[in-house]
Amino acid sequence: MSNSLFRTKKISSILSEGGDDPHAGTGLKRVLTAKDLTFFGIAAILGAGSFSSLGFAVFHGGPGVILLFVITGIACAFTALCYSEFASRIPVAGSAYTYAYASFGELFAWVIGWALIMEYSIGNIYVAYSWSDYFTSLMSKMHVHIPEYLSTSYMEAKHAIGGGSTNEEVLAAWNQAPVAGGLRIIFDLPALVINVLITYLVYRGIKESRNFSNVMVMLKIAVVALIIIVGGYLVFANGLTPNWTPANDQGVRSFMPNGFSGVMLAVASVFFAYIGFDAVSVLAEESKNPQRDLPKGMIFSLVICTVIYILLTLVLTGAANYKKFDGIGDPLAFIFEPQNLNVGWMQFLVAFVAVVAMTSVLLVFQMGQPRIWMSMSRDGLMPPVFQKIHPKYKTPSFSTIVTGLVVGVPILFTDKTFVLDFTSIATLFAFVLVCGGVLLIPPKDKVAGRFHLPYVNGQFIFPLIVTGSIIMAHALSKTYFSDIFNFDFNSTEEYRNGKKSFMDLAIPNISLIIFWSSAVLLSVFAVIKKYSLIPLMGVITCMYLLTGMSKSNWVWFIGWLILGVVIYFLYGFKKSKLAWKG
Ligand code: ALA
Repeated sequence: MSNSLFRTKKISSILSEGGDDPHAGTGLKRVLTAKDLTFFGIAAILGAGSFSSLGFAVFHGGPGVILLFVITGIACAFTALCYSEFASRIPVAGSAYTYAYASFGELFAWVIGWALIMEYSIGNIYVAYSWSDYFTSLMSKMHVHIPEYLSTSYMEAKHAIGGGSTNEEVLAAWNQAPVAGGLRIIFDLPALVINVLITYLVYRGIKESRNFSNVMVMLKIAVVALIIIVGGYLVFANGLTPNWTPANDQGVRSFMPNGFSGVMLAVASVFFAYIGFDAVSVLAEESKNPQRDLPKGMIFSLVICTVIYILLTLVLTGAANYKKFDGIGDPLAFIFEPQNLNVGWMQFLVAFVAVVAMTSVLLVFQMGQPRIWMSMSRDGLMPPVFQKIHPKYKTPSFSTIVTGLVVGVPILFTDKTFVLDFTSIATLFAFVLVCGGVLLIPPKDKVAGRFHLPYVNGQFIFPLIVTGSIIMAHALSKTYFSDIFNFDFNSTEEYRNGKKSFMDLAIPNISLIIFWSSAVLLSVFAVIKKYSLIPLMGVITCMYLLTGMSKSNWVWFIGWLILGVVIYFLYGFKKSKLAWKG
């Protein structure tokens, strides 16, 4: 017992509370196998990122976005291995939160748990909005019209009107909305309804959710495969392969028409598409053999989805010129429209399956959040009611209802872009800490049948990789490093015409300075402490992705963290089970 902010929880005590013994009675039912967990992983990964935000990514980066999918896939693979190492040591329900408690200590654990609310709950708001987009368009294909003011978020309509948008649907939402007490009644009804239904399903029980989820996953994989086959065939048959090297505004043809900076604008969207493999780790207490199966579930689902994303992006960028994806929220259906590949039945099928795919994402995340809160409550960092298990359904009932509210209420006040950016930055932050945490835990003995993260001594390899990257960055652009340190933006047109502020332009530079300094610092530690290469690569690749985040992302995220720390000092610091109650 101590009053240190960095008091860590012993792995042995976490296990005794959470059920190291697969037959221990923790209250949750152990029913999930490796196959179920892989399905859960795919259920969580393949959703709004591929069916919706991929359009935004392609518009900015062109076919070069594939490169970002590869980089992000690699960063996530390193992270998945680190998650797996923790999951095999600490197979309880709290995911990254629990892992941080055992490595970095209580304050960091709380901060991660707080950041994960962004991933699980706020991320689901984006998915619910995208679900509603596809659901509304599916209904209209069946000649059922949902009024625009009941299928648009208030903020989106307000921003669009303020920004002089020409988007007819959003204008209609604003202009046709009934007015009460001077306020326009505009809200996304389908997004709210799906949230209520999912909350109910998760409340009712894991087994029902699993059966429902497995069917949805099989359906979405089958249709995504069909999109790749039909779309891929038509790209070649119609001679559209030149779309893979489109001309940019200056008429220069390239795989990356807007350069690498255009590709990096898509970081939040691409990373969002990958989020979800980590949700598998919150199901530890419902897995039959978590130490063996959680790592399998995470890694298999990640590999399958990476391959799918690369193929999907190839089909998308081949089917239509990247510039056509401006403002397209349903890119996978869009490529089959008459002006593109012109396959009517695929448009309908894709819209239908998008609704299914996103339902499964909602389900997995809505199952994850209550289980993290349950762990935090067990540790005393949240009120005891969050660990209450329903006597009949055996689910964390109170936490599940609170999750429904945390997703549902902001649906009324936020918009898609805001929640997408917020989710991605917070999740990347959590990933950096999980990988860093693996560097801090002591080596363990190998146990047959359990996952074991291979130790590759990073003492020389990591500094070599960092040095090689510095040389390569300099070789590709002689001014790369001098540009990072250049804070005189007078030569930048966007700065001169007031479109971007000093901080808007300075934040990417500051992020890169922090990134390269951390890479050098980590190299020094790698030499001194003989750190393991895989977690080192996880930390540095996720940090690299963080350099793609904008000023407003950082401002909101740091504000969120400060709020979390204040709450910790007001509640968790005193109530923690590890607190010294002298
Ligand atoms: N990766 C999940 C999705 O794309 C969050 O919907």
